[in-house]
Amino acid sequence: MHRPAWAPGDVDMDTASPARMYDALLGGSHNFEVDRRAAAQAVAMVPDLPLVALSNRAFLRRAVRHLAAAGIRQFIDIGSGIPTVGSTHELAQAVAPDSRVVYVDIDPVAVSQSRAILGDDPHTTVIEGDLRAADRILADNRLRALIDLDQPVGVLLVAVLHLLTDADDPGGAVASLRDAIAPGSYLAISHLTSTLRPDDAAQLATHAAERSRVPIIFRSRPEITAFFTGLTVVEPGVVELPAWRPETPDDLHEEQGRSLGLAGVGRRD
Ligand SMILES: C[S@@+](CC[C@H](N)C(=O)[O-])C[C@H]1O[C@@H](n2cnc3c(N)ncnc32)[C@H](O)[C@@H]1O
Repeated sequence: MHRPAWAPGDVDMDTASPARMYDALLGGSHNFEVDRRAAAQAVAMVPDLPLVALSNRAFLRRAVRHLAAAGIRQFIDIGSGIPTVGSTHELAQAVAPDSRVVYVDIDPVAVSQSRAILGDDPHTTVIEGDLRAADRILADNRLRALIDLDQPVGVLLVAVLHLLTDADDPGGAVASLRDAIAPGSYLAISHLTSTLRPDDAAQLATHAAERSRVPIIFRSRPEITAFFTGLTVVEPGVVELPAWRPETPDDLHEEQGRSLGLAGVGRRD
């Protein structure tokens, strides 16, 4: 199979990856045939899936703008994916040009594309890292060069925790991050849920288990809310993706009461 110039030499082009399937759902161009096929099959099961991806991206934008308006000037975006328009550094730097952003992803395509796009912007960096080893991410010298953990930071876990199984201990990863960040910091989370559309969630989970090396775990509202333990959840709470502080009608991609994702922002007091 022909390997496009943007793909790292050692990338596996025969197995769908969550980063590239999500890119395909958003209409991006950094995905392979295997990703497009898997994404198309998922859309055949749940036709509004691209709207869920758009809804999630719109939540990320609103959350970053909210944190920037609250005075946050440094961000750690874990599971940042393949950069697309409206990336964290663009949003944060639109509010404060000196905002610093560290992107972290486990997927080599996401990391190499992020590096290519960011170029030599001195306020941003990209690390290949694993949320399951959150302490190692925080100890990374490239992160420490940009992020002062004694100052408030915005940590983004947007559409990534549902890629960790219970055996991966996602609660432990979140707790490590929560305990490492300074008072005044924020944690923004979005997560696919089984609560609102259990049948669609079950179909998609089965499809992911069959087509990708990475399962998708659709968690319940109480399980997702538990990730905010030890934090003060800001208004409006842990809610459906489009219901988190919508700004314009364009933010309302999914039908109310039928979102496949929940989202919230917690502050460390
Ligand atoms: C659905 S994408 C979300 C991208 C972006 N956060 C957004 O919401 O638009 C999930 C990303 O998480 C990454 N990911 C999956 N498991 C990870 C892990 N254990 N550590 C870091 N990143 C991970 C995937 O490679 C993928 O790029």
